[in-house]
Amino acid sequence: MNLFTDNDILSIRKEHLYIEDCDTVELANRFGTPLFVVSETKLVSNLKAYTSAFEKHWPEGRVRVMAAIKANPITAARRVLTREGAGCDTFGAGELELALRGGVPTEDIAVNGSIKTPEIIRRAIELGIHVILDSPRELDYCEQEAEKLGKKATIVLRLKPFLEDLDDPSDFFPSRLIRDMTQTVKYGIPTSEMLPMIPKIRASKWVELVGVHTHSGRHSKKAAFWKSLIRNYVQLIKQISDGMGNGWVPHIVSIGGGFAAEHDIESRVAVTDYVTPSVEEFAQITTTAFRESMQASGLSTRGIIFEVEPGRALHNETGIHLTRVHVAKHETANIDRRWLETDTSEVFLSVGSLNVKPAFRYVVANKADRPEAYKADIVGITCNYECLAEQAPVPETASGDVIAFLNTGSYIEVYGCNFNVLPRPGTVLVKGDQAEMVKAHETLEQVFSRDIVPDRLKEI
Ligand SMILES: Cc1ncc(COP(=O)(O)O)c(C=O)c1O
Repeated sequence: MNLFTDNDILSIRKEHLYIEDCDTVELANRFGTPLFVVSETKLVSNLKAYTSAFEKHWPEGRVRVMAAIKANPITAARRVLTREGAGCDTFGAGELELALRGGVPTEDIAVNGSIKTPEIIRRAIELGIHVILDSPRELDYCEQEAEKLGKKATIVLRLKPFLEDLDDPSDFFPSRLIRDMTQTVKYGIPTSEMLPMIPKIRASKWVELVGVHTHSGRHSKKAAFWKSLIRNYVQLIKQISDGMGNGWVPHIVSIGGGFAAEHDIESRVAVTDYVTPSVEEFAQITTTAFRESMQASGLSTRGIIFEVEPGRALHNETGIHLTRVHVAKHETANIDRRWLETDTSEVFLSVGSLNVKPAFRYVVANKADRPEAYKADIVGITCNYECLAEQAPVPETASGDVIAFLNTGSYIEVYGCNFNVLPRPGTVLVKGDQAEMVKAHETLEQVFSRDIVPDRLKEI
């Protein structure tokens, strides 16, 4: 497997790993390690791949890529996506705030989430943002808040299609079936509670039902899964349409996220060892299944806004993580073992303590095309076992060398915590040969900023 030809933003120049036209060793020196680095060019090209593939296969109406902000909640990254025309899926008040700070037009924001307060619903209605309902209680909140504001709420129902025709296991938990997991998961309105909401919605003068949503997560990359999801999704849409009457069809249809990343080796997915279909294939499979199922149900697709919400697929290959080797140890007494002790941690990389297979592809960034000299455990800085890559082949590596972990762009930076009272790493955005800090390294002072010492303990 070639690390560089399969990610066009990475290259080796004069022994050094480059991301775009930036030398990663210089980035490590200039900004300090550990450090997340995000490629603007890759982010834009990933978004364009989604937009153009779905636009090609969905001529009936607008395609809206509702980038899942949770995968990379950094304001500057979001502003890149906004500039390029992406909408935004948000979960909770914090993500809504980020979407607004990221400049997303309110009509392209969705307020999602499984526990919404009246306050967030009120804010969404005020701003003209559609609310994706996750329970009947949220319908009540929408009606109450809309009435108080004297402004109709636009709502979307988050559905839980039952994949009755699919017997496949989940790639997350291979001992479980996708069919079961998509029902046992908390999110979405239970179907038995959703159907009785329809007459209420129909009768309400304070809400307007504009669409439907579903999100199943990355349970499988197989066409059979996506086809089943969409077929059974449309079964529910048909029931809603019948209940709403007057030829109601959704104006917005979201199929959620859950698309695999191009180099699908993320640590939270157990099964990744089969080929990821291209974005083009995803687009073709999902739009065709939707169109055909709608037609079979006698429902029109004309003018429907087709939404996808990629998170990992959009961001994963945009990011790398740089760490410096502080100590190189070698035991020869009882065993022959080498360790490269780095300044990063499993708690910044969202992986477990013992990674028998490397958690990520890695490169010694200042010796990028040197031959392998021996095997070493690449380990992290905390008091945990912290083996980020066990017995990883490396060139001769010494204190001061920089290691790059690749494909760390989604769901990693955001999970960082302060174990061992470590300040969390910052993030740099690169474009061509330009590099800018877009999230500062946390300071020790900031780590302590939430601690409160009661007066009675101050004199000790
Ligand atoms: C509603 C919703 N949409 C999209 C996503 C993004 O999923 P993924 O990163 O697997 O594409 C998530 C992830 O949890 C989600 O909850």
